[in-house]
Amino acid sequence: MTEKIAVIPGDGIGQEVTPAAREVLEAVAPDFEFEEADAGDEVAAETGDPLPDATRELAASADATLFGAAGETAADVILPLRSAVGSFANVRPVRAYPGTDAPHPETDLVFVRENTEGVYAGHETEVAPGVTTLTRVVTEAASEEIARYGFEYAAERDRSVTIAHKANVMRETDGLFLATAEAVAEEFDVPADDALMDALAMHLVQRPEDFDVVVCPNLAGDVLSDLAAGLVGGLGLLPSANVGRERALFEPVHGTAPDIAGEGVANPTAAMLSAALLLEYLGHDDEGRRVRSAVEATLESGPRTPDLGGDATTRDVTDAVLERL
Ligand code: NAI
Ligand code: MG
Repeated sequence: MTEKIAVIPGDGIGQEVTPAAREVLEAVAPDFEFEEADAGDEVAAETGDPLPDATRELAASADATLFGAAGETAADVILPLRSAVGSFANVRPVRAYPGTDAPHPETDLVFVRENTEGVYAGHETEVAPGVTTLTRVVTEAASEEIARYGFEYAAERDRSVTIAHKANVMRETDGLFLATAEAVAEEFDVPADDALMDALAMHLVQRPEDFDVVVCPNLAGDVLSDLAAGLVGGLGLLPSANVGRERALFEPVHGTAPDIAGEGVANPTAAMLSAALLLEYLGHDDEGRRVRSAVEATLESGPRTPDLGGDATTRDVTDAVLERL
């Protein structure tokens, strides 16, 4: 069965690493039909709109979307694209990859972050000059969906779950989040515990190896996953998935890297690992594993791009991965 893949490279190194990831997909999944579309600063400069309707509609109809990065217009691009694919979960695997100087090489975590509500639901007001408020939205439906996704993810991989929250202070909202997640936990044969998000931040730094799948409310997941990225040497190599019920969007965690854009030396690893997540989302588990091991073997043996201390180009690394595939 042919699956339609939207490819939205965006700006800066998005235009370099996304085509590299597409080549990897083409090498392992010949039944994909690709369609490219524009988004970001460049198309905004031409048309006034960082996310043309055609791009949004493509993401909303494709089986999966591979996105690169957008520059100054990132929020105007990525937030509507996440909602176009109906994403309720932001999934960020944080691992120390071979060939990198990870401060905590034992780290192997996956953040499963609620992607639609919490303090990012957008209910912010200036009630009077000098006085602002924000309404935090937590629903049972969204909490149950994110918890179920996290527990299913852990069950499939034989891993444990930690539920992050601050229910001792935010008794209503995180109280509901925690109670709902605990009820979901009862249905699974998965080791589970919960942790106050502030203490969890410290424990992640001290003993990252104690954690597997961390299910979090929106803001907590945003902050804790960046903290964990620091454990493995930064955001540059990390992939992510924005998962919906029928479609999903995959993107490197990094941005457009204006300091190196156009030089042909961007590291395509995060985009390729995002492509591996895309393959797995669509059920092509073997192909996903093949991509992941080809990328990891290349990280280990080189060639490596300058960010990892090498002098290889994006093209060199891509060719090395394709050769392994
Ligand atoms: P950035 O991730 O673009 O760059 C941070 C540093 O990491 C830079 O020194 C860059 O050269 C390096 N880097 C990042 N990815 C790399 C790769 N694949 N290979 C080699 N080096 C890499 O973050 P920054 O500088 O904060 O943001 C730059 C622009 O990107 C901004 O306009 C920002 O709005 C946008 N951005 C977009 C995102 C998205 O579209 N999802 C996410 C983050 C930032
Ligand atoms: Mg963030």
